[in-house]
Amino acid sequence: MERLADGCVDQDREPLAILGGPPVHVGQWPTWPRAGRIAQRGLLNVLHSGKWTLSGRSSVIPSQERLFAESFAGFVGRRYGVSCSSGTAALTIALQALGIGPGDEVVVSGLTWVACASAVVNLGGIPVLVDVDPDSLCASIAAIEAGLSARTRAVLGVHMYASRADLPALETLCARHNLSLIEDASQAHGATIGNRRAGTFGSISIFSFQQSKLLTAGEGGIAVTDDDRLFQRMQQLRADGRAYAGPAPMAPAFSELVACGEILGRNLCLSEFQAVLLQEGLGRLDVENAHRLRMATVLEEAVGGLGWVSVVRDRLDPRDGATFYKIPLRIDEERLLRIGPELLARALTAELRLPVEPLDWPLNRSPLYRPETSPLVARNADAVELFRPGRFSLPQAEAVWRSSVALPHPCLMGGEIDVQTIATALRKIHRNADALEDLSRRPSPGAQAFRT
Ligand SMILES: Cc1ncc(COP(=O)(O)O)c(C=O)c1O
Repeated sequence: MERLADGCVDQDREPLAILGGPPVHVGQWPTWPRAGRIAQRGLLNVLHSGKWTLSGRSSVIPSQERLFAESFAGFVGRRYGVSCSSGTAALTIALQALGIGPGDEVVVSGLTWVACASAVVNLGGIPVLVDVDPDSLCASIAAIEAGLSARTRAVLGVHMYASRADLPALETLCARHNLSLIEDASQAHGATIGNRRAGTFGSISIFSFQQSKLLTAGEGGIAVTDDDRLFQRMQQLRADGRAYAGPAPMAPAFSELVACGEILGRNLCLSEFQAVLLQEGLGRLDVENAHRLRMATVLEEAVGGLGWVSVVRDRLDPRDGATFYKIPLRIDEERLLRIGPELLARALTAELRLPVEPLDWPLNRSPLYRPETSPLVARNADAVELFRPGRFSLPQAEAVWRSSVALPHPCLMGGEIDVQTIATALRKIHRNADALEDLSRRPSPGAQAFRT
């Protein structure tokens, strides 16, 4: 095989890996999720401690959960943290603590994970889906403003992929219209905007710790706030009406939680095992983010050289506070656009041996977003039209979905040579576009496309 100047093997004449040819990337990518020695020791300590969850009665006080929630709140720059079983749970207690309920409209990006909208629906609120800025893939401020009505109660500001949403602008907008702002930083752990961390905008910010995230315990989430009242309400919503007993150390064998019962809650607690994993991950988050940022620059240069691919990331100044949860690549090449993002992602996955995906489905056409099946909607015939996803027009979200694929962040956790194979894989696919186009004409069992 011939070697190119960048050190990569010239495989342009080899068949595509999706058609049985040799893949471009032959080594191992850095593994994700990770757990270092501190986490391993911590997990064993929890295992033998007799305390596996915050709500378990034990002499082990304070819980790992509480220690982590305090560390994480301090890390982002908030006074309080309420950790939860998932990001969806954190979003749910945030919405509920702010009083969002049946009939209230919440403005949500039309291009994000389905939970951002379904959490609102499950409280009876009406998500108003708005279009995105194609240069960041976050909801555009103009579209958010156009989505406001007399029924709007809150805006969800979501950071997406490799872009920070313009939360300072959203804070101004929400203050002007007297609306609650919830920041969803599930895709931006450790990012900064100016001198503020993601997680400090609006009255509550939430994060997910699901496995793909930059900080993870497999599952988990947290809601952070500076407001005493919201802190009290969110604790009770997450632990069946109970809240931390107080800052003072408690006598052994006591529960760390005391009954308050001001508000009906559920059990949405994080386990002690998860808290240990998160505490360790938090300790290395900034270093990992800095490495990903360096490798993102390498990636931008490598794919930029192709002339028809670009990395989609925000244009906020300075750009060094950006994080890279997923790295969207915008394709501007007629033949590859005809092939479409699903097959292109599968071809890249095969070349790189790395899970490359299309973007999230725009929510007006997502097979996952089915508000009409929620009992709160289905039992109210008048409401069905208000919730109907197809009533929202999201032309930018649909256009970027058709022209982009997203790389997972572990592709930026290795070295430069690994990153350069991404450009090599794209070049190989481009030169073999005819073969891929032939493949695109064959039926593909199980493929889920837009709902029409
Ligand atoms: C932006 C955003 N918000 C909320 C969630 C929901 O988090 P979880 O899956 O932990 O419930 C996710 C998960 O992917 C997300 O990406």
